[in-house]
Amino acid sequence: MTSPAETTEAPSQGSEAAPQALSPAERYAAIRERAREAYAAWNNPTIPRISIAEDTSSLAAGAGRTRQALERLVAERNAAVELGKVVGYGLQWLQPLADITWPDGTRVLYGPVTPQNVDSLLDEATGHLGAADAIAIGLLAGERVGLRPIAEHPFLALETKGRRLMGRLGYTDPTNLDHYVATDGYFAVARMLDRHQTPEQVRQTMIDGGLAGRGGAWFPAGVKWNFLAGAAVPERYLICNADEGDPGAWVNRVLLEGDPHDVIEGMIIAAFATGAQHGFLYIRNEYPLAIQRIRDAIRDAEAAGLLGKNILGTEFSCTLEVIRGAGAYVCGEETGLISSVQDGRGMPRVKPPFPAAAGVFMKPSNVNNVETYANVPLIMRNGGDWWRSAGTANDFGTKIFSFSGDIPFVGHMEVPFGVSLKRVLEVCGGTVAGLKAIQAGGPLAGYLPGRFIETLTLERQSFQPLGALMGGGGIVFVGHEACSIDLNVLYAEFVEEESCGRCTTCHGGNQRMHEIFRRIGDGGGRSEDRHNLERVGQSLQYSNCVHGQASPTIMRNTLRYFEAEYADHVAGTCEALRCAGLTRFRIVDQSDPKLADAQAICPTGAVVGSAGNRSIDDAACIRCGACTDLAPRAIARQAAPAGTEMPHRQPANPPGLGPAHGVVPLSWQAHALSRPEGAHGGPPPLINAALKG
Ligand SMILES: Cc1cc2nc3c(=O)[nH]c(=O)nc-3n(C[C@H](O)[C@H](O)[C@H](O)COP(=O)(O)O)c2cc1C
Ligand code: SF4
Ligand code: SF4
Repeated sequence: MTSPAETTEAPSQGSEAAPQALSPAERYAAIRERAREAYAAWNNPTIPRISIAEDTSSLAAGAGRTRQALERLVAERNAAVELGKVVGYGLQWLQPLADITWPDGTRVLYGPVTPQNVDSLLDEATGHLGAADAIAIGLLAGERVGLRPIAEHPFLALETKGRRLMGRLGYTDPTNLDHYVATDGYFAVARMLDRHQTPEQVRQTMIDGGLAGRGGAWFPAGVKWNFLAGAAVPERYLICNADEGDPGAWVNRVLLEGDPHDVIEGMIIAAFATGAQHGFLYIRNEYPLAIQRIRDAIRDAEAAGLLGKNILGTEFSCTLEVIRGAGAYVCGEETGLISSVQDGRGMPRVKPPFPAAAGVFMKPSNVNNVETYANVPLIMRNGGDWWRSAGTANDFGTKIFSFSGDIPFVGHMEVPFGVSLKRVLEVCGGTVAGLKAIQAGGPLAGYLPGRFIETLTLERQSFQPLGALMGGGGIVFVGHEACSIDLNVLYAEFVEEESCGRCTTCHGGNQRMHEIFRRIGDGGGRSEDRHNLERVGQSLQYSNCVHGQASPTIMRNTLRYFEAEYADHVAGTCEALRCAGLTRFRIVDQSDPKLADAQAICPTGAVVGSAGNRSIDDAACIRCGACTDLAPRAIARQAAPAGTEMPHRQPANPPGLGPAHGVVPLSWQAHALSRPEGAHGGPPPLINAALKG
């Protein structure tokens, strides 16, 4: 793995600098010297340190409770350990993660660390070596008999170019500016200013490196920056698109929470290259921790003179500001986002004019994705040739992908473009019930049959000929327990609800698409539905933005690749027993003690009766499947004969109204894609064991 600390020489010391006017290099050197001391002390603490991974998915898996339990135990025992903070390493299914750093610099990663096993972790940290062996994952630094370096973990086997974007994750406290600076952070800014590089040179470096936007459209970043640099008016803005709305994608969140200064440094360089004075980081409201970390990082960088007025004592100034997103998918589209930044309704507008001509407040603006900006310091520091050394002939560099769905090992990794998706699935542990489909790139990008796993590679050109897109980095593996029509109901509902309403083709078309799929899933399929879906897909092409234009992609893929499954549904059969109108739930074992629990959690009270005499009321059952997930022996899914009752259906509840008994939209069913990351439970013993000895 490439450690960020291993890169490049120090910036040249400005020889003409007058003693009273320090050069950018001298100012940076002073900041870095202090930072290195602090980071060295962190890497070699005087007493052992236990650092908990505190990022959104780790916290969702209980990292907060783990920390509380650990704090209590440390106080009770008056133990000589300190507590610290890092972020996860990508192994989501093993969360909450934690590491121990010993004074000699040895650092070991553990997971899942729960309130139940923090005592063994504390024992391990305080001298009982081997006490936490059962949850040891791998070595982050140093040597330990019986443990192998984390880079050799089977899940990370495809990170063949090491971690570039994620190089600091697990190795630094993301809330500590010193850690960033000590690992070459802000070096690229300091050298750029010290060597009097011109904005043209910086833009050309991006073009030569071949940095393409990571938000899904893959437009060359340097070329886009040229548009802004050539704007006729001096007032211009930068925007970082951190809306990341694709279900199954958490790539940007990893960077925002795990290495916030890297994104900020990328924006500072972009501002210099384009002549922008102010930048907005538009972060979705659902990412409160990312918002907090970026805000804190901006504050710390400003206090250190690395951001704000007269950066590192030069004439160059750049300020950044966080905008909380409006919680709408379509606010990820750049013109919808710009409208939202201005406190307007998040509504994409007609292009041209493009943002480079008329962006925020009608001033020239540049929109790039989080990961695009995060690559910029890497390219500036190490050069375009180094950066291009990873990837394929068309897609350069590495990319972070998040992998979820019906796989045991949910997580994210940073791989060079071109990696085989089949190998990815292997390191993710395969699909629990066999691979039915691949859903890459969110609700606009596509739905491909599992057989394509043999040939698909993680690069744009691999997906395009199949009528799909790779998208921004979220890949969902769909197992055979899922139903394609049920998933289409979900996605059609999503694109309908997220339509901004500007175009009749989009808001009306997606309503029709949703209605048709929902009716088919309810058992009311008609022979003309296919024709009508195709007609709707054609008219959606005439929508204003890519949201409307691409919303029929999954429907088209389904009709093309899952034709038989579609026809079965129209004929009244859902083989996977997922579709509401074609499935019913029946109690098949009255003696199972879990039945009482299943009755208790049924959200609509559809499990009626008392012990030994329970039954399911079809008219109240919303087919959510929660009961059979909890009590699989007692409650079974069955094909519903024609005429089976269903609850009265109403449109999705207006904002502010919760689901009520019997009127819950049926497409709120629990299934693979709504499963939270890391929800597969405990550690897979095999992959854990594989690292030992
Ligand atoms: C409906 C819709 C949603 C989008 N969501 C995002 C998003 O969440 N993040 C993102 O970077 N780009 C998103 N995009 C693409 C942006 O419009 C834009 O192309 C991108 O932010 C440009 O950055 P890049 O050149 O660095 O990729 C979305 C586009 C559409 C049509
Ligand atoms: S295509 Fe849809 S989301 Fe885009 S502007 Fe039109 S209505 Fe809005
Ligand atoms: S499927 Fe859901 S609504 Fe129906 S009985 Fe089971 S828990 Fe209740």
